[in-house]
Amino acid sequence: MNQRRKWGVLDSRGGLHRGAGPILLEGTATPMCCSPLGYAGSDYLIVKFWHRFSGSNWLWSNGCCGNSKSMKNILVTGGAGFIGSNLVMTLQERFPEARIVVVDDFRSGDFENLQGYRGDFVATDVSRLDFEQQFRDLTFDAIFHEASITDTTIHDQQLQVHDNVEGFRRVLEFAVTHQTPVVYASSAATYGTKQTLMEEGMVPAPANIYAFSKVQLDNLARVYARQNLAWRIVGVRYFNVYGMNEAHKLKAASMIYQLYRQMVVGKRPRVFVGGEQKRDFVSVKDVVEMTIRAVGAPASRVYNCGSGVPFSFNDVIASLNGALGTNLEPEYIENPYSFYQPHTEADMSLAKQDLGFTPQFRPDAGIADYVQSLQKL
Ligand SMILES: NC(=O)c1ccc[n+]([C@@H]2O[C@H](COP(=O)([O-])OP(=O)(O)OC[C@H]3O[C@@H](n4cnc5c(N)ncnc54)[C@H](O)[C@@H]3O)[C@@H](O)[C@H]2O)c1
Repeated sequence: MNQRRKWGVLDSRGGLHRGAGPILLEGTATPMCCSPLGYAGSDYLIVKFWHRFSGSNWLWSNGCCGNSKSMKNILVTGGAGFIGSNLVMTLQERFPEARIVVVDDFRSGDFENLQGYRGDFVATDVSRLDFEQQFRDLTFDAIFHEASITDTTIHDQQLQVHDNVEGFRRVLEFAVTHQTPVVYASSAATYGTKQTLMEEGMVPAPANIYAFSKVQLDNLARVYARQNLAWRIVGVRYFNVYGMNEAHKLKAASMIYQLYRQMVVGKRPRVFVGGEQKRDFVSVKDVVEMTIRAVGAPASRVYNCGSGVPFSFNDVIASLNGALGTNLEPEYIENPYSFYQPHTEADMSLAKQDLGFTPQFRPDAGIADYVQSLQKL
């Protein structure tokens, strides 16, 4: 059952004190969307939770002050990449007083994505970084781990698994000392070739080495979380993300961007025969919103992050035609792959229940919004 309460601090009997903003709590005695941060004196449990900040913006905050300015030090790995840079720029806007540090070795990132960034930048490989030495006494309020090899056509198994898994292990080893909340990028690729609604509880079935490395991240997070029950390690399982700052990914950019590039110069969009393969395309704007909210998750776990709407390549072409004012017919080409995922679809109910998150962009609206931004470039 949902109920609205005031924000503030929880006393030892679960009563809430101080604060004025409304928050949405799940349940009655125990507010499920609050995460314990520690104790203030013997009577008060300090909690952090979501509160309505202004208009439709939702931010998490520490219950002791109910103020978004409480997030003072934020670490983002992979911050020069597509999702990372969108996240960094949103964090900078929402937490203008915060010290933001990006760690990225530019293997698939681009400085151009961080135009206007005012924070600190460490250009190094997270899988080899001595975090303790680098940051010494700096304690972060949250760590967002986006760094990863993201080109799924890199088949070097040792490289994919070493860099992706060891990078995350180092983040966790650093974060465990102060139990800094960690939100990390998992992937829908962990589900493999399933054609049904994808639920977080499903057994992983990675079909390539990239997906296998992401399964290892989920496994590692589970081990650390079990040993540290009060700590939050939250996986955000991204589906097919599209949006600004993905151009540098070239062939690894979203299908929406690839088709846009063809159509904007008047070419017929090329897709595999039939064009009815469906993907759960999610706007990077929704991805950023949910990633930030995940800091306040009630428990360590993995959450799907999609639009919840499977959308075919033919649908994408129709939406792009609508947004561009064109009428280009698809050109169907033979599929050279023996394996090609026919359908992805995120079950978003857990994200809604625990994080109060509902994607704002259905794929057609998200594509129109994206094309508008691309045309301003
Ligand atoms: N874009 C998607 O559709 C999608 C889907 C599922 C999961 N993800 C995950 O989201 C995260 C961000 O992906 P993206 O789409 O922004 O890709 P991206 O390639 O644009 O960003 C990844 C960034 O991490 C950096 N990086 C990689 N390995 C590093 C290392 N060892 N040390 C330091 N920096 C390193 C790269 O230079 C790059 O800037 C990744 O973890 C990816 O696996 C993305």
